[in-house]
Amino acid sequence: MSIQSENIEALVERRSVARQGGGSAKIEAQHKKGKMTARERLSLLLDEGSFEEFDMFVRHRCTNFGMEQSRPDGDGVVTGRGTIDGRIVYVYAQDFTVSGGSLSKTVSEKICKVMDMAVKTGAPVIGLNDSGGARIQEGIDALAGYAEIFERNILASGVVPQISGIFGPCAGGAVYSPALTDFTLMVDGTSQMFLTGPAVVKQVTGESVTHDELGGASVHASKSGVAHFAAKSEQEGIATIRELLSFLPQNNLETTPVKPTSDPVSRVDDSLNTIIPDNPNKSYDMYGVVRSIADDGAFFEVHKDFAKNIIVGFARFNGRTAGVVANQPSVLAGVLDINASRKAARFVRFCDAFNIPLVTLVDVPGFLCGTQQEYGAIITNGAKLLYAYGEATVPKVTVTLRKSYGGAHIVMSCKQLRGDVNYAWPSAEIAVMGASGAVDVLYGKDLKAEEDPAEREKLASEKKAEYEDLFCNPWQAAEKGYIEDVIEPRNTRFRVIRALESLASKRVSQPARKHDNLPL
Ligand code: HXC
Repeated sequence: MSIQSENIEALVERRSVARQGGGSAKIEAQHKKGKMTARERLSLLLDEGSFEEFDMFVRHRCTNFGMEQSRPDGDGVVTGRGTIDGRIVYVYAQDFTVSGGSLSKTVSEKICKVMDMAVKTGAPVIGLNDSGGARIQEGIDALAGYAEIFERNILASGVVPQISGIFGPCAGGAVYSPALTDFTLMVDGTSQMFLTGPAVVKQVTGESVTHDELGGASVHASKSGVAHFAAKSEQEGIATIRELLSFLPQNNLETTPVKPTSDPVSRVDDSLNTIIPDNPNKSYDMYGVVRSIADDGAFFEVHKDFAKNIIVGFARFNGRTAGVVANQPSVLAGVLDINASRKAARFVRFCDAFNIPLVTLVDVPGFLCGTQQEYGAIITNGAKLLYAYGEATVPKVTVTLRKSYGGAHIVMSCKQLRGDVNYAWPSAEIAVMGASGAVDVLYGKDLKAEEDPAEREKLASEKKAEYEDLFCNPWQAAEKGYIEDVIEPRNTRFRVIRALESLASKRVSQPARKHDNLPL
């Protein structure tokens, strides 16, 4: 055999060993837990044959605790570049079969390398996490490695989309990388995120809690909002990440991909003309409206199980992505509370950073009141959404379907927050507050003074009718130019599309400053 052939054989052999990660027993253990290996995940995530692995032969340099005895090729992460639907992405997948996917200095160097490449070339970064956290044997080097990653997460924020899949444990400070990225996806049953595990929680607070109760997928997808998506399986999670990317641009200087549709722009939907119930206290399902106006009735929802009183997600309008934000009257009457404000604010800011126009559907009775909300800083949190809309320079199209009261009216992309095209349905009620509340404030004393209950009732309903006539409609706003037009509900799809298309060339420059001071 020639020297060349021997060299090539050695390369092939070394590659095949590297691909085994921590070895077959560890791979088997991973499968037994119902988890895929890092390489299996990547092969499902990326287009077939597109993966170019980097640093397959990088090995850790730690000599503490006899670590020099075991230096597997590649260490605890698989990194590289591939494509999804033909578009380049940079990826890393922590390999639990090597020291539990723990983060050594070399693991962090591998991750930082792909992140740097992604930013330099303007491509998304997808990180698949499955790790016991900082490699304990490496001490402070591992912490330094995390900090290097966090810094890159921060510098890449708003430049390239960053997506985190949590496919196993993600504990301690490690959780902060996903938290800094744009979207986090978890898998039911096999992934957890927490700062301190159940044992420490028990010691410190006396609280007994399981891993899943503390930081499982459903907890973070529905209670904390840390996770934007909870998948039933790894396969579903990976498919979700692929679909999410199909709505996004490669970076902040590009536009989103266009997906041609056979759904006519001019499609009208008569059912929208009757979707608003006659009784203003009755609800309806906002999903029906979103699906009716979007291409092919398709809506890719973000944060589906968190703060359900507001809906956010991506849809296409004549093939182009838009971010949809919509109050949901069938949950808490669509009121804005702390969680709804946080959820929508983050989404609006993501869309603005990545040139994704916003379509806002309004039916909001106001902000939720009460001590719980005030003590939890609804003021600061509500201001986040107000700020997000007010600073956003992407095209903003707003349709008010029914209620749009008070501060919540302003927050939900009103004209004076630089809304570009604001429409209202004839059922819109754009006012300072609802009729009953207004009559209470204006005539409370008179009503109290009236001793005859029948007379009191009569006075209240007269004043209510007067207020409704004056304010509970779109006409005041239309007369003053606060909305561009009152539109027939059935025509909403094509009116929204026309508005978006007319705004495609929108350019707004911002005043120079170091950075803003968003109310955090
Ligand atoms: C080194 C680790 C490790 C770690 C796991 N391993 N975590 N090695 N550093 N942090 C190793 C184990 O020793 C074991 O090695 C292999 O990975 C698999 O781990 P198991 O415990 O057998 O697996 P499992 O039962 O599935 O439990 C997984 C686990 C558990 C829940 C993640 O390993 C665990 O609790 N690990 C420690 C978590 C932790 O406290 N990390 C530090 C957090 S502090 P062998 O050789 O037996 O296969 C932190 C600070 C970050 O991360 C700060 C950033 C700012």
